[in-house]
Amino acid sequence: MGTGRQNFPKVVAVTSGKGGVGKTNIVGNLAVSLSRMGKRVVIIDADIGLANIDIIFNLRPQYNIRHVISTEKTLNQVMVESKHGVKILPGGNGFADLTQLNEGEKLNLLSEFETLSDQADIIFVDTGAGISSNVLYFNCACDECIVIATREPTSITDAYAMMKVMSQEYGTKYFKLIVNMVDSAAQAKKVYAALSSALDKYLKNVVLEYVGHIPFDRQLQKAVQKRGLVMDNAPDSLSAKAMKDIAVSLERNPVSTNSNGSLTFFMNKVFQKST
Ligand SMILES: Nc1ncnc2c1ncn2[C@@H]1O[C@H](COP(=O)(O)OP(=O)(O)O)[C@@H](O)[C@H]1O
Ligand SMILES: [Mg+2]
Repeated sequence: MGTGRQNFPKVVAVTSGKGGVGKTNIVGNLAVSLSRMGKRVVIIDADIGLANIDIIFNLRPQYNIRHVISTEKTLNQVMVESKHGVKILPGGNGFADLTQLNEGEKLNLLSEFETLSDQADIIFVDTGAGISSNVLYFNCACDECIVIATREPTSITDAYAMMKVMSQEYGTKYFKLIVNMVDSAAQAKKVYAALSSALDKYLKNVVLEYVGHIPFDRQLQKAVQKRGLVMDNAPDSLSAKAMKDIAVSLERNPVSTNSNGSLTFFMNKVFQKST
């Protein structure tokens, strides 16, 4: 085994300013697409309060990160695996407690996370919405931060606010953008243009990279009703196809990286931000 960067999983935060913009569905469908491309994918459900990635995978996990913190279970005992082979680490509300961990608990959690290093190529963190500190410290500990926005003015202003706080308070410079629930590529480009012109004006050192857009699609909503992923229930639908394309382009494009560390590095950053 070499010691190159490629041995570490890429940790990707998926976040938004505003809730309900499609983060969880995007994480789930991208994870499945990437796993079909041969990648080993883990999802960390770190959305405190609205942790629900398990629902669209139709899984009912028994344990969560709390059981790892309390050393009742190992990370591998807590993770559940979908029929696609995607592994999910349920957060419950355990990620709210990272600030209160003592040194022993932190070290234990670090070594547990270290075991993920050789089990995953990509780790998605569904971090939840908003600019509360626990969302932010997860976002800026990750290698990549993908922001999800819709055409709604509130979603655009909140996405901007999130990037502003992350760049000013935590020095995060690179973001990727996915625009969800649009009718056309032109609509999505308008959202990107609005955000990047605001960034150019007020936050010159921040780079926002456009990844793609996902159409508004009733098939996706139908899939959610059935506790499923649109990728499984309607693989030929517009939203499923868009997410497949986005998975390919994420895989192809080199990382616009905010860090270059291992998982230990990632967790250490999380702990630092939380103190
Ligand atoms: N591309 C889309 N087309 C239509 N509806 C969507 C789309 N993406 C998300 N939705 C709707 O928005 C709801 C919230 O999505 P979700 O992924 O849970 O958002 P978040 O995780 O950001 O809160 C979904 O249950 C679905 O009804
Ligand atoms: Mg969600």
